[in-house]
Amino acid sequence: MELVITLLTVCLVILISIWMRKKFSFWKMRGIETPPLSFYIKHMRMAFLQENSFADRDLLTYKYFKDRSLQHGGLYFLYHPVYVPMDLKIIKHILQVDHEHFMDRGFYVNEAGDPMSAHLFCLEGAKWKNLRKKLTPTFSSGKMKMVFETLLECTVDLKTVMDKHLDSSVNIKDITARFTTDVIGSCAFGLICSSLDNPNSEFRLKGQDIFHRGFLENIKQVILYSFPDTMRYLNVKMIHEDVSEFFTDVVRHTVEHREKNEVHKKDLMELLIKLKNSGNVDDDKSNLENTITMEEIAAQAFIFFVAGYETSSSTMAFCLYELCNNLDIQHNVREEIIEVLEKSNGKLTYESIAEMKYLEKVISETLRKYPPLSTLFRICTKDFKVPGTDLVLPKGLRLMVPAYGIHHDPEYYPEPSLFDPERFSDENKNTRPDFSYLPFGLGPRMCIGMRFGLLQTKVGLIKLLMNYKFTLNERTKLPLRFDPESLTIATNKDLWLNIRKV
Ligand code: HEM
Repeated sequence: MELVITLLTVCLVILISIWMRKKFSFWKMRGIETPPLSFYIKHMRMAFLQENSFADRDLLTYKYFKDRSLQHGGLYFLYHPVYVPMDLKIIKHILQVDHEHFMDRGFYVNEAGDPMSAHLFCLEGAKWKNLRKKLTPTFSSGKMKMVFETLLECTVDLKTVMDKHLDSSVNIKDITARFTTDVIGSCAFGLICSSLDNPNSEFRLKGQDIFHRGFLENIKQVILYSFPDTMRYLNVKMIHEDVSEFFTDVVRHTVEHREKNEVHKKDLMELLIKLKNSGNVDDDKSNLENTITMEEIAAQAFIFFVAGYETSSSTMAFCLYELCNNLDIQHNVREEIIEVLEKSNGKLTYESIAEMKYLEKVISETLRKYPPLSTLFRICTKDFKVPGTDLVLPKGLRLMVPAYGIHHDPEYYPEPSLFDPERFSDENKNTRPDFSYLPFGLGPRMCIGMRFGLLQTKVGLIKLLMNYKFTLNERTKLPLRFDPESLTIATNKDLWLNIRKV
């Protein structure tokens, strides 16, 4: 018996080593450089000990390939090979020119068992394409002008809460997160969340719940990303049931209330209801083949919250942090805001925002230094021959486009850690190659909510900068570090700023 067990163990070990050799020779067989085992061990140690963030590790990977002047490289994620394009021309093919080969992100979606996961970010193939077409008009500039008024209403509480802290200090990270929670709550869900007024409002707590579930939750996401088919077979839910139930109930209640009482508001929910009933966001053109269901509304409102709340709030927080380190830039951007607003008697209008060119540059530079998603994910959906090379990417291969690495590459952005809005003057923008700026991604799968994200970021910053002067408070721990638990780029400690009246 003992002999049989020993023989079986030996056979198993041999089989596993053959399997591993085969799996881990994927890149070598194709002549593509991949980091040595010690690199992976170091990265795993850093991740487990939470020594740094996803973005920090992405930058190390980028530098590994860049130092070797490679146009692309290969990684292994668990045992899955991952393609990392470095050459911007290849990236352009992947994101835009040959998008049909890379339409999906390869994220977990379980439409049957977890309808909330069937949202635009995760959906794949024809389902994604169809839904993207239906939702695109929701974010047109005309519709943004419509929701602008609703967004502006959220700034009243912003001013009230800031005034309470005059001549003292605030944790700006918390304030901006409460502001964007109120904005998305009111614009996407039609709710008055009042999280600025009440930091413990249910909507705010649920938002925190989604983003700050910790290390184990990150491991779960890694497993879902790595074994989607098995997880779907086991009917694993990506979104926790309590969160899913909360958002579904909120949406159902809002839709039913509005339909029953014929309530119409200037927000995204109004547009989603129009899509549900007439298949079009414009009143005059109904298209019944285009309608969406109540479950689909709930899933989209949910992803608008997930994708729109933390991204914009950390952009605002990082921007204010940089403006405290660069007081001359803070002064100049405030001067511009005041000058433009004087023309409209101090009233902030949708049109006046477009005139604030320096603010635009300041936000672009913030998103260059701190793009909320450090990596853009794609999966190869049809075999693809990489132009100018012999490499063929097979269907099913995962790709990671290193946005954060590109944004911090001195070849495109000299002295990358310097905060310099002039990088985004028309003249300087034209000197950089295409696809060297990716805070919203690019191509057909880029961020659908870019206009809305920029609008809420600008409105929040305008209201803060026109009323208050900011400096760093000594409670802010320097150098600023990114949160090791967050999948997006976020500060890991509170960001305390002193505030004074302008
Ligand atoms: C500063 C704010 C924001 C930033 C930096 C940002 C960034 C991004 C990025 C990098 C992607 C992935 C793009 C790609 O893979 O090529 C994305 C996708 C997406 N974003 Fe945003 N986002 C922001 C705000 C918003 C807002 C406010 C909403 C909704 C109200 C939103 C909704 C989405 C959705 C639904 C997707 C998936 C699009 C698709 O797959 O078709 N985002 N965003």
